[in-house]
Amino acid sequence: MTNENRKPKRIAIFASGKGSNAQKIIDYFRGSGEIEVALIVSNKSDAGVLEIARKEAIPSLILDKHSFFQGDSYPDFLKEKEIDFIVLAGFLWKMPSSLIKSFPQRMVNIHPALLPKFGGKGMYGARVHEAVLAAKEKESGITIHYVDEIYDHGQIIFQTKCPVSPGDNPDSLAEKIHSLEYAWYPKTIEKLLQNIVKRS
Ligand code: GRF
Repeated sequence: MTNENRKPKRIAIFASGKGSNAQKIIDYFRGSGEIEVALIVSNKSDAGVLEIARKEAIPSLILDKHSFFQGDSYPDFLKEKEIDFIVLAGFLWKMPSSLIKSFPQRMVNIHPALLPKFGGKGMYGARVHEAVLAAKEKESGITIHYVDEIYDHGQIIFQTKCPVSPGDNPDSLAEKIHSLEYAWYPKTIEKLLQNIVKRS
């Protein structure tokens, strides 16, 4: 193994909201020595995830909308920061192709339902659970997938299910889904990272 490959692999987490998944991922890799959460990225200056970054002393970045969608500086910035892998955890902007192309098979998202059902533009947060309940589904779950140019569309890596009970409402379903996310997202990321080589 080269020295390069002994250096910890560096994750950037992109999130727009409170960041409870980001927190679980940070907790999971704390002290790992092989994998580290090196950067927190958000499109919202008041996102809870930035408070987590501050508390955890992890560098953070607030995206500029124009540069993100029209410019091409972020791929270089992430390269300079030696980011090996991007994790989306409740990130609501659509990833531009320049970033997707810079991280082939190195960018994953988690969706709080069983794709290909209940995904696509506008399907996030409580809306997903409301749609699942309205469709009288007997089960829901989580999907971890690679990111491509279409919302919630990239190759599926992992899914697991939970029952939808007759008494469930969007909040109770969200709670079940969050438990699945916390249990499976960090270890799925770990497995994927174990199979990639560090970028040079
Ligand atoms: C999660 O439910 C995830 O599936 C979705 O966005 C939500 C983020 O929640 N993509 P949190 O900010 O991690 O609490």
